[in-house]
Amino acid sequence: MRTQIGIIGGGPSGLCLARLLSLRGIRSVILERHTRDYVQARIRAGILEQGMVNLLRNAKVSDRMDREGLVHDGIVLTFAGRQERIDLAALTGGQRVMVYGQTELTKDLYDAVLSDDNVAVVFEARDVSPAGFLDGTPRLDYGKDGRLEHVDCDYIAGCDGYHGASRASVPKAMITEYERTYPFGWLGLLSDTPPVHDELVYANHQRGFALCSMRSRARSRYYIQVGLDEQVGAWPDSRFFDEIRRRLPDDVAASMITGPSIEKSIAPLRSFVAEPMRFGRLFLVGDAAHIVPPTGAKGLNLAASDVHYLSTALVAFYGERRTDLLDRYSATALRRIWAAVRFSWWFTSISHKFNDDPIEHKIQLAELDYLMSSTAGRTTIAENYVGLPFEPTFA
Ligand code: FAD
Ligand code: DHB
Repeated sequence: MRTQIGIIGGGPSGLCLARLLSLRGIRSVILERHTRDYVQARIRAGILEQGMVNLLRNAKVSDRMDREGLVHDGIVLTFAGRQERIDLAALTGGQRVMVYGQTELTKDLYDAVLSDDNVAVVFEARDVSPAGFLDGTPRLDYGKDGRLEHVDCDYIAGCDGYHGASRASVPKAMITEYERTYPFGWLGLLSDTPPVHDELVYANHQRGFALCSMRSRARSRYYIQVGLDEQVGAWPDSRFFDEIRRRLPDDVAASMITGPSIEKSIAPLRSFVAEPMRFGRLFLVGDAAHIVPPTGAKGLNLAASDVHYLSTALVAFYGERRTDLLDRYSATALRRIWAAVRFSWWFTSISHKFNDDPIEHKIQLAELDYLMSSTAGRTTIAENYVGLPFEPTFA
């Protein structure tokens, strides 16, 4: 098989890239390790920045999001019994975020690419291996239904997430990896119950962090910070809800409507960046190149800026034979990535329990108190939360 862009991974990055390229007449093949149902069922992100919303509109996959998504113009921070609203829209000149689940977004993207003549998707592709990208003969080898297959292409996009094959195929001497792990994870619970509040609530509490999020007016998504040694099985729904209520102000806790969980899972927290993001004819995109702790809701939104930069650069290459944007992809993407890595680390550091030393919590409370008392403090949270702008000169 021959195509223009060989894409490894049919998650949000790979699907969005294929779709944007197709609309400019560029053909691609996506090799996805799992089935469509498996990819769509993974409960992950829920908050889309304006930049990602715009990207989905450009990709012509936004009709359902625009109908069903919830636009939020504020978030609530709680600590020391206080509830402080951050007015995102007022502090950022009218910017907002969209609540729309990654599961729904992934469904919309699959509906679009599977009826798109410029995109071929191979599900259950085994042992995908990128080759030839350093010597100008890029190729993807893989197994399908017991046979060895390959795709020849002009460029490879590694959109295969943190555990994928693309980053692992780069010679160690060419790549630098920066990593921080955190001494806790997030236990998430999804339930068909009305959200406890009409905006997201981020809670700092002596017992640990908690987050009340949502997917719709009838579906809630809750998270609590837990130790790395915790198992989902040790957290029946009643224990989860008792614990999250303890971490919330009394009136919020009292109004929480509980119901059976639809999904429950534990995610570890990590900051990770691989530099650079280009190796000859291989480009890393999204979680394949970087991971942030989920506190700032940035992971999926960073994938969107990578996709924007890479699709713009590939369109310039095929349309005008320009290679300068491909050359600048890595540096441009990494600037926004490091800004989000910093914010996600900082927001984690002021909202989570790192150890039992009481001075740590006191210092966090003092920092939150200061931030809330200052327009500059509130603005720095708001600007980062709604998402820093995409590089305007990248075109
Ligand atoms: P992935 O979603 O990981 O997709 C990679 C795809 O590649 C997968 O389909 C995988 O099956 C496939 N693949 C992997 N290896 C191979 C291989 N060898 N061969 C072929 N295919 C392969 N982000 C936000 O912006 N906002 C949020 O609110 C938010 N909340 C989150 C909450 C949680 C609990 C978690 C865990 C994450 C959250 N994120 C959030 C992060 C977000 O989900 C990810 O950043 C996003 O999924 C990245 O998309 P991706 O396409 O780059 O990678
Ligand atoms: C969700 C996840 C986040 O990491 C976050 O900061 C906000 C919301 C969510 O899954 O709804």
